[in-house]
Amino acid sequence: MATFKVLLTPGDGIGPEVMSEATKVLGRIEKRFKHEFQFEEETIGGAALDRYGVALRPQTVAAAKASQAVLFGAVGGPKWDDPKAVQRPEDAILGMRKQLGLFANLRPVRIHPAMIGQSSLKPEVLDGTDMVVIRELTGGLYFGQPKKRWESASGRQAVDTLRYSEKEVARVLHVGFQLARQRRRKLCSVDKANVLRTGQMWREIAVEVGKLYPDVELRHLLVDAAAMDLLRKPTSFDVIVTENMFGDILTDEAAMLAGSMGMMPSASLGKRRKDGTGFGLYEPIHGSAPDIAGQKKANPLAMILSAAMMLRLSLGLDAEAAAVEAAVDQVIRDGFRTPDIADGRGQVVDTARMGDLVAERVA
Ligand code: IPM
Ligand code: MG
Repeated sequence: MATFKVLLTPGDGIGPEVMSEATKVLGRIEKRFKHEFQFEEETIGGAALDRYGVALRPQTVAAAKASQAVLFGAVGGPKWDDPKAVQRPEDAILGMRKQLGLFANLRPVRIHPAMIGQSSLKPEVLDGTDMVVIRELTGGLYFGQPKKRWESASGRQAVDTLRYSEKEVARVLHVGFQLARQRRRKLCSVDKANVLRTGQMWREIAVEVGKLYPDVELRHLLVDAAAMDLLRKPTSFDVIVTENMFGDILTDEAAMLAGSMGMMPSASLGKRRKDGTGFGLYEPIHGSAPDIAGQKKANPLAMILSAAMMLRLSLGLDAEAAAVEAAVDQVIRDGFRTPDIADGRGQVVDTARMGDLVAERVA
């Protein structure tokens, strides 16, 4: 029996609700495939601010490092929205990414055929959409220094810094090219090379790294044009690689292609072993959704699909990951929907029932 150590950080809002469903499904994987998952749990985000006065404790980072993967729920909520607060719940996720060296964030966008009517785009534009956006996650505007606000004689001033090193750009591009090799061998590097120095360097490095992958077709798009093409011809993308802030914005846009954020998993990865696996943090791309927290309305599928990515990318359990993904596909085909993806035809179910339905199909 193989044993795997996983840290759970449910967080705030709907985080704990969707986390329970993911562990429910993993429980079925344990039984069917004869593994053992050792779960440890840590309080993070707003809940940790209330309990410990900090959003992310050093103990939590240490517990993550002692695990093979982290399943991360969501952080934040109106209770902690004071713009003057020194610490915000979001510091928990930013701190985890940075301190754990998780520089590549993979956000797959697939449209389930049974849900194609759910999107605000026309089905004929969407049909066949299947891409992965790789967002650089530990550099750029989010972390560059200086980053501050101050008062001056002429009023308030503020600065954030967009800074990248050659190494940071190259390593995330490598992740993109390697992933493209396992897919349709098309890589789109997104920058703002017509205005930003960092964009010019990004493009230069993309060309250089691309020479090592002659079998992958490389093209470049300016970020504004990429935003447009995501809506105009989403099927033209296979793998996209881009800067942290651009990736944050483009992935919310891309999520809307699939109709709901409630369907979108993500994996944040650092250095990999030879076999392609390695430590990672897995989280749905949706937030804590305080407006529906505690109402049993949350869609647990993004969290469950994030757990599937963990099985594949950190634990090397390909068949197990495929079993979870197939179970989710089957639940959708069988017509079960949480309120966010209700289409007026299928049966609307609550969070726990959705988890049960997926778990049943895994077993
Ligand atoms: C995301 C989120 C986070 C980000 C927030 C919660 C800090 O929007 O994961 O995309 O901006 O990276
Ligand atoms: Mg975001």
